[in-house]
Amino acid sequence: MNPAQTTAWTGLAEHATRLASQHLRELFANDPARAMRLRAQACGILLDYSKNRVDGPVLHDLLALAEACGLHARIEAMFTGAPINGTEGRAVLHTALRSQDDTPVFVAGENILPAIRAVRASCHVFAGRVRSGEWRGYDGQTITDVVNIGIGGSDLGPLMVCEALKPYADGPRAHFVSNVDSLHLTQTLATLDPARTLFIIASKTFTTLETLTNARTARAWLVAAGGEAAVARHFVAVSTNAEKVAAFGIDPTNMFGFWDWVGGRYSLWSAIGLPIALAIGPQRFDELLAGAYAMDQHFRHAPLDRNLPVLMALLGIWYVNFLDCHSQVVAPYNQTLHRLPAFLQQLDMESNGKRVRGDGEAVGYATGPVIWGEPGTNGQHAFFQLLHQGSQIIPVDFILALKQPGQIAVHRRAQIANCLAQAAALMQGKTEDEVRAEMRAKDIPDGEIEKLLPHRVFPGNRPSNLLLMDDLSPESLGALLALYEHKVFVQGVVWGVNSFDQWGVELGKQLASGLEQRLDGSTTPAYDPSTEALLAYIARQ
Ligand code: F6P
Repeated sequence: MNPAQTTAWTGLAEHATRLASQHLRELFANDPARAMRLRAQACGILLDYSKNRVDGPVLHDLLALAEACGLHARIEAMFTGAPINGTEGRAVLHTALRSQDDTPVFVAGENILPAIRAVRASCHVFAGRVRSGEWRGYDGQTITDVVNIGIGGSDLGPLMVCEALKPYADGPRAHFVSNVDSLHLTQTLATLDPARTLFIIASKTFTTLETLTNARTARAWLVAAGGEAAVARHFVAVSTNAEKVAAFGIDPTNMFGFWDWVGGRYSLWSAIGLPIALAIGPQRFDELLAGAYAMDQHFRHAPLDRNLPVLMALLGIWYVNFLDCHSQVVAPYNQTLHRLPAFLQQLDMESNGKRVRGDGEAVGYATGPVIWGEPGTNGQHAFFQLLHQGSQIIPVDFILALKQPGQIAVHRRAQIANCLAQAAALMQGKTEDEVRAEMRAKDIPDGEIEKLLPHRVFPGNRPSNLLLMDDLSPESLGALLALYEHKVFVQGVVWGVNSFDQWGVELGKQLASGLEQRLDGSTTPAYDPSTEALLAYIARQ
């Protein structure tokens, strides 16, 4: 189904014209119940979507669009293990990783739940042994530091969660090394004691250049201190590729597996989450899974018009396809969510950064937006200027968890106030009359006022969602992350793209491998004139 050929799509295009001159201020003025009506709640998260440039008919047609694209059937297909990743012939079952019930999920005729639970149990046993001090390093000391070496989905998920849940951390310190730039590794190792450091080499494929390069250097660092025999006590792997793990020199008994139906960017719920279990404990890791499962249930069963991931996805489609907004900001107001924008960048842009539909036809409409952001309030003092007064409209997801262990009341008040203030300012703006009145009250001369007026007006009418979380616990974080995963899924369904492959990352990898040979002195392969000129310059340096 091409979404652009549905009547809902045509209706939405007409609504965009109809609403073009309507200000959000007017939409609120005309509908006193709007603030209460345009909200939905699930799993301890309130989604306030009242500050979006939509009205009843827009929401109606957005929901109709989802129906017309067969959303219900696609949701069921994902949860029940149909091979919806068509270009790779794979099921997509990160939801099974966190299932809390015993309904079997079949892949190639086999119920995958027992294998999922067996690996999770062995991860938990291992995490428990390290945390309790039973697992010791080569000279008998306990492990104080864990270094996860991975990149992309084998890094961003566990890194983001370990940061988000730092107030709950009571295990060994967690470090994450991803960049092939050696300074990332060496600066991390500089503070560590090899005898007390555990490395997790996390790679779904175990072929990723950055990860293997960092892993080899880390191995050499350990062996220099503890000898070859130390490797078995200090290196574990998380991968789907047992052969490559063994070839690298990690004993397969020290490997925690997962499966090809877990996409890298959806893998934190699998053994890739081992650093999380080490940092906050297996029980809290289970709470993270339970929170995600609760959101899965909500997504699968709640009516579309009260379904958080569906609503967020459709609002995103409204902006991308009908209001010409191709960028989306994520502004978490809790500092420990500081890696969430980076995590969501991979989740969203690697999933829906596609220009052809599942059947290979060019889409003919815009797809995934650019996702970016920083924690508020820092962003307010950096890029929010552009959000308020720039020439383009960029919808914002404000995220605020009301309670977190260790908060200081006076900070918390300012944190909440700033989050609400930014959303209100973007929505309301400040008119010429309001600016004039404000400046006159300060006795600024009229000539000066008129000169500054255009600079001090805020157009407003700039949309945002607010995700207000009761707290930032493992459970509510799990729900938040599952919410975004499903949002991305729904958008992929409507756009008709395969959200679960990532062929676009391959070409650069291929070229890099040939370029490494050139930098090593080989005269082949040859590259384009621009790259050749750069190689020549670098050789001269
Ligand atoms: O290059 C992109 C990618 O394949 C991501 O999709 C993935 O999360 C990342 O690389 C890491 O891959 P791996 O876990 O196989 O090392």
